[in-house]
Amino acid sequence: MGKSIVITGAAGFVGSNLAKRLLDRGHEVRGVDNLSAGTLENVDPRVEFHKADVRTPEIYPLFEKADAVFHLAAKTCLPECVDKPLEAASINVLGTLNVLEAARAANVPKFIFADTSAEYEGIDEFPTREEHIRPIGVYAASKHGGAAFCESYCQLYDMNVTILRYFNVYGPAQDWRRVIPPVMSSFIIRMLQGDQPIIYGTGQKRRDFVYVDDVNDFHLIVLEDQRANGKTFNVGSGINFSVKEVYQLIEDLLRTGLRPVYEPELPGEAEITLADITAAKSLGWEPRVEIMEGLRRSIAYFQSRVLKANVSLPGV
Ligand SMILES: NC(=O)c1ccc[n+]([C@@H]2O[C@H](COP(=O)([O-])OP(=O)(O)OC[C@H]3O[C@@H](n4cnc5c(N)ncnc54)[C@H](O)[C@@H]3O)[C@@H](O)[C@H]2O)c1
Repeated sequence: MGKSIVITGAAGFVGSNLAKRLLDRGHEVRGVDNLSAGTLENVDPRVEFHKADVRTPEIYPLFEKADAVFHLAAKTCLPECVDKPLEAASINVLGTLNVLEAARAANVPKFIFADTSAEYEGIDEFPTREEHIRPIGVYAASKHGGAAFCESYCQLYDMNVTILRYFNVYGPAQDWRRVIPPVMSSFIIRMLQGDQPIIYGTGQKRRDFVYVDDVNDFHLIVLEDQRANGKTFNVGSGINFSVKEVYQLIEDLLRTGLRPVYEPELPGEAEITLADITAAKSLGWEPRVEIMEGLRRSIAYFQSRVLKANVSLPGV
């Protein structure tokens, strides 16, 4: 039977993709987002959308009679978190606490929190398991604060909370408007527009990239599977690529002839991320979209939805 589900951050990258998947499955979705980073064009018209800030009391009525909450709203841009740590903490810690309170007040039986692999910044063990974390940067610390409250609510108020530590999620609707967008969308957009892609640092940093549909497959499992309650899961692909390799894969698909330009390293970024996904696999999940296919789909989206160009590119 269809559930009634609240998604915070519903106009953002992962939230908007998740909403579509849930709606296609016959669930009802109430979406909350203050549109500070997300956009209305991301939001499926079937979503009951509310423009609201997760830190305000006006979100409380939206949780009534909900069967589950996916709390994805966050300040996600790392350089902005470094510039404005108080705002990052206000949204990612207090905002999360307010969403937990709204869910508790409405007796929502299931709460799923979008945590981050940035929690592992100071851990040198690869692939990385869920047990040990060492958040260092402002973004990581603020997400950690939110996750810590999720754990408190799980213990104190018997709330069925699941914490998902996403690695580098990529795919359609990934935010490309930021000053420094995430690497995949940044490379694709620039190269489609005929601009050289920008690599910060040497390009040797390795990232575990996971396609958004795979992440949503796991969301659907967690929503139904009681074994996920009270647990934390890595959500990655279990494979990593260097930033330079990602450039080369995109170049292999687009054949633009554009070479990357190098700019100084961005502060506070881990050298390597690589997920141990044994725990997630134990619930029957498996990432299915390999990187070339994920890049093809992302390129197709950015071509048709963002650039609206009818450019025919080799390999895509
Ligand atoms: N995309 C990734 O690779 C990744 C990796 C690790 C963790 N995460 C986590 O997953 C979640 C979703 O990430 P995303 O990539 O979709 O980010 P995103 O920035 O695209 O989406 C976040 C959304 O939250 C909204 N928002 C921000 N502050 C708000 C507030 N005060 N009130 C209401 N809405 C607010 C923004 O407008 C935006 O639409 C975040 O919690 C993020 O920390 C994402």
